[in-house]
Amino acid sequence: EAGVITLDRGYKNTGSCESAITFLDGEKGILRYRGYAIEDLAEKADFLEVAYLLIFGELPNKEQLEKFHHDIKEESQVDEEVKKILDGFPKAAHPMGVLSSLTSALTAFNPSSVDVSSEEDMYNAIVKILGKFPVLAAWTLRKKKSLPLNYGDDSLGYVENLHKMMFEKPGKKYDVDPAVIEALDKLLILHADHEQNCSTSTVRMVGSSHAGLFASLSAGVSALWGPLHGGANQAVIEMLEGIKEDGGDTKKFMEKAKDKDDPFRLMGFGHRVYKNFDPRAKIIKKSADEVLGQLGVEDPVLEIAKGLEKEALEDDYFVKRKLYPNVDFYSGIIYRALGIPVEMFTVMFALGRLPGWIAQWREMRMKKEPIGRPRQIYVGENHREFTDLEKR
Ligand code: SDX
Repeated sequence: EAGVITLDRGYKNTGSCESAITFLDGEKGILRYRGYAIEDLAEKADFLEVAYLLIFGELPNKEQLEKFHHDIKEESQVDEEVKKILDGFPKAAHPMGVLSSLTSALTAFNPSSVDVSSEEDMYNAIVKILGKFPVLAAWTLRKKKSLPLNYGDDSLGYVENLHKMMFEKPGKKYDVDPAVIEALDKLLILHADHEQNCSTSTVRMVGSSHAGLFASLSAGVSALWGPLHGGANQAVIEMLEGIKEDGGDTKKFMEKAKDKDDPFRLMGFGHRVYKNFDPRAKIIKKSADEVLGQLGVEDPVLEIAKGLEKEALEDDYFVKRKLYPNVDFYSGIIYRALGIPVEMFTVMFALGRLPGWIAQWREMRMKKEPIGRPRQIYVGENHREFTDLEKR
């Protein structure tokens, strides 16, 4: 209705767009990418296939997938000057802040990625960022570890290449247990898209002004950083470690989580859309047991996590509010078992979410969506006369 502004804090009941990419049913705990069940994709596809599916709408055949990977590898070089920007950061800088800055900086070295008026320009910008983003992500870790900045290895798959860039050591032969790459690939698939979550809405909003793809993605990385969103995977492990240090009394922390005056929240629990189990959490929980078993890793916080989950599912504060474990509750336990440092957990989320952000940005541009510009309910001062400084 023209002129009537409805206030909807956090857009809880607002649809911002029509999209054909991801389907969620929060009540039934259903998640599908382009109509394919997340359970099938996590089991049967690999991450690059899922990236292609999300962005272009169909599962690729063999030659399409090979061309896609070839084009990405052709664009995986990052300009040497970008290293000077990285040098400017203190070692203590959070990797998400570094990644957001470097992602935006890529625009300066790839100016043609801004005006994507043709399908070809759009494709070129997309393969550029799919090739360069993993390098930037690996560099945020290598900076922290004072390791030399490296480049990808074209002979490897997309995910193994990422792992090698993160973990190879000078003078040491790189090899990795295939179970690690398989676990990483599955985790990246599970994080690949999630309809109009905070960071994806941010990518769409920034992109709706026709700012370039890399600037839009940089904004998405910043939004994902927050502990209420992607940053929760780091916050979960820090919370579980805190409970372990405190003696492992999960009941005490459940009470704190329910106490309105206590800022403590059960990180990794609750979701805006899922009012049932997050289907990704189910798969990740199962995978956590498998991966830790395969790698022979014992992690005491896994038992604490399971204890918290069990108690929450029997506690009416959580049951009444339909608070279940979400994607971030168990993912950190696997990342840790894979040797990924906790401050890199949200970077791993960003690496998974990259194709989803790209797909949503591409859909928004192809549908020529209008610039995002919501209204407000004004609750400030009525008109008042100006008072000169001497009289204030
Ligand atoms: C992700 O949107 C997406 O799809 C995101 C994501 C994706 O793939 O992109 O799924 C990824 O971000 C998952 C969520 C990760 N965040 C966390 O785990 C942080 C902890 N969770 C909460 O902060 C919260 O549940 C949110 C942010 C996830 C959802 O927030 P909402 O929908 O705004 O819900 P709310 O804060 O209004 O909470 C509703 C009630 C409140 O109690 P009452 O005021 O009704 O008494 O539930 C309570 C909250 O206090 N509550 C919690 C809680 N989460 C909600 N109480 C204790 N611990 C929690 N974790």
